[in-house]
Amino acid sequence: MIFFDQQRMVFHLQGPSYSYVLGVRDGVLLHLYWGKKIPVENPWPLMAFQGDAASFDLAFSRLPLEVPTQERGYFGGRALGIINSQGDDVVSLRYQDCRIFSGKRPLSGLPASYAEREEDARTLEIDMKDQLTGACITLSYTVFRDADVLARSMYILNEGDDPLLLSDVQAAARLPLDDYEIIHLKGAWARERHVKRIPMAQATFTISSRRGASGHENNPFLALVKPHTTEDQGDVYAMTHVYSGSFSASVDVGIDGAPLMMMGLCPDVFRWKLAPGEGFQGPEALLCFAPDGLNGLSHRMHPFIRRHICRGQWRDQPRPILINNWEGTYFDFNADKLVAIAEQGARIGCELFVMDDGWFGKRNDDRSSLGDWVVNEEKLPGGLKALGERITALGMRFGIWVEPEMISPDSDLYRAHPDWCLHVEGRDRTPARNQLILDMSRKDVQDYVIGAICGVLRDGPISYVKWDMNRNMAEGFSPLLPPERRMETQHRYMLGLYRVLEEITSSFPHVLFESCSGGGGRFDCGMLHYMPQTWTSDDTDASERIHIQYGTSLIYPCSAMGAHVSAVPNHQTGRITPFLTRCNVAMGGNFGFELDLTKLTEQELAWAKEAVENVKKYRHTMQQGVYTRLIAPAPGKGRAAWQFQDEKRVIVCVYQDRSFPNAQPWRLRLSGLEEDAVYEDQAHHIRCSGGALMEMGIPMPAPWQDFESWVYCFEKV
Ligand code: DGJ
Repeated sequence: MIFFDQQRMVFHLQGPSYSYVLGVRDGVLLHLYWGKKIPVENPWPLMAFQGDAASFDLAFSRLPLEVPTQERGYFGGRALGIINSQGDDVVSLRYQDCRIFSGKRPLSGLPASYAEREEDARTLEIDMKDQLTGACITLSYTVFRDADVLARSMYILNEGDDPLLLSDVQAAARLPLDDYEIIHLKGAWARERHVKRIPMAQATFTISSRRGASGHENNPFLALVKPHTTEDQGDVYAMTHVYSGSFSASVDVGIDGAPLMMMGLCPDVFRWKLAPGEGFQGPEALLCFAPDGLNGLSHRMHPFIRRHICRGQWRDQPRPILINNWEGTYFDFNADKLVAIAEQGARIGCELFVMDDGWFGKRNDDRSSLGDWVVNEEKLPGGLKALGERITALGMRFGIWVEPEMISPDSDLYRAHPDWCLHVEGRDRTPARNQLILDMSRKDVQDYVIGAICGVLRDGPISYVKWDMNRNMAEGFSPLLPPERRMETQHRYMLGLYRVLEEITSSFPHVLFESCSGGGGRFDCGMLHYMPQTWTSDDTDASERIHIQYGTSLIYPCSAMGAHVSAVPNHQTGRITPFLTRCNVAMGGNFGFELDLTKLTEQELAWAKEAVENVKKYRHTMQQGVYTRLIAPAPGKGRAAWQFQDEKRVIVCVYQDRSFPNAQPWRLRLSGLEEDAVYEDQAHHIRCSGGALMEMGIPMPAPWQDFESWVYCFEKV
């Protein structure tokens, strides 16, 4: 709901359990409140600056500006930076107008949240203007009927006579004055999204990516929580970005001690010239308030991402159980070898065979052929069609790997178009994994990629695509742009990429797309808008994966995470974990295998078959149900647990990390069950009330060996 008190100039936005209140005083848009839902009433008497309301001559630093800019002594974090033709960056935004309407407009060229029916969302748009330069902005706020998520974005229009230079475009949100801790997801390649929690200091805290991708190192997600907040209690304020490029997210503590949380384009690698009459659409940020701990945050964000970010035919479909050949064969395969793996996959019930990197050009290692999307007939005689037909004859779907944003210097494409990559004239083109990046800001390059990939998808019975991206930008500039626009390249790249993704995914609606960036280097709501799942990490070690999937689950639903059973010793860590534990960890996401199934023992094949049967039985609960973290995999604790629940059943997964001597039996308390309902796990001979399962817990054996795991499945009787 959105309430507008025109007389007092107050906007009160309400979701099911939060309120977000704005007000206008002397033309200045002020943030008045964000937090637990409160009644709609006149908030002005409660504002501390009430006595000074008539005059804004005092330093703007003391005002809770909704769009902080460089103006009248405001020194805090800026949501909007504009350098004008006079060379200064003063921006005095004053309220002009507003509109409130049902539904939500799409953001031109950018991914964004959406409401399927108009009545499911209400949008407030507020126009503000800087009279001197003619810079106009429209702030957009959408509340959703079924979600505690507020979607925000900013559109900037140059109504003046001179060009403007944008330097900062951020969504800024103020929190009530209090002590907080900051939670963010830190990582690196193969160890993405580990949960980090630090006290908020009287300082500015920033995480960012300048890589041209959201990145492995920092996820575009920040949460501020009250100290002592746990999984199940405490206030959580979170923000995330519906964008996949470089970003910056920060917490700036003002002179009053209250935090300003911001999320937006990374100012280090972003400038945008706005000629008279031109407009710029900033990416969307999602704000979520949860009064009931970190699980409360996940319980709000997971269904939101599933229903208001992900799109397409596969959004609500059970995700196929796949077998991918990457760790099984790497580049060393031919059609017969792949079919042998697929046959074994079909025998244990897999539904999709994915051929990974190495099927095109002369790519027998990672040194060539990116850009040459022509099948290697030596490896695959008869091409994708022949192989696809052999796979589908086994009763499985057929999927392929592509990396369309890249170009190998050793490729026909590069020989024909050496200028098609991002580069800086007169400087070396820095390769990474022997490849360069196509300049996706160029329309001709976008059209080439669309044509090439659509051609491939028409070449065979392909119903799944893994869209990879294996390096970040070094010389991230497009020489085609005039010098004063070069710093626009990274954002133009993203706009180009989004155009390509929109074209390709909408042309092949039956295809399930999974995004990937050296594992989870672009795990964000921007990519999830086009592709409903992401390869979580190149680290398939079961023990490591618990941390990665646990951190990822803070915000992203399990239906967005690819999770595969791989061989031991693990290729990333050398660790040996039991086969069943590898299956039980992979059950925490979109389940698959990534090994040479022809090398499994009979016993392992039997376990694999059983795991596939279980995933088929339970995947509705795991992909669409409520996911709750029960025990965090903190160092020293030695164990982790999570739970999936829907109206019919509860699935509980428990993982032991390292065992230890003299371990004792213990109890695991479940969460969120109906107290009086009866739940039964026949395999473990447990039948009792939800109340008992939550308060007394289920008896857990003393761990006996490293990396044991247990899965319980309770049916509601
Ligand atoms: C990186 C991906 O994350 C892997 O799964 C695999 O597809 C390789 N790229 C292939 O080059």
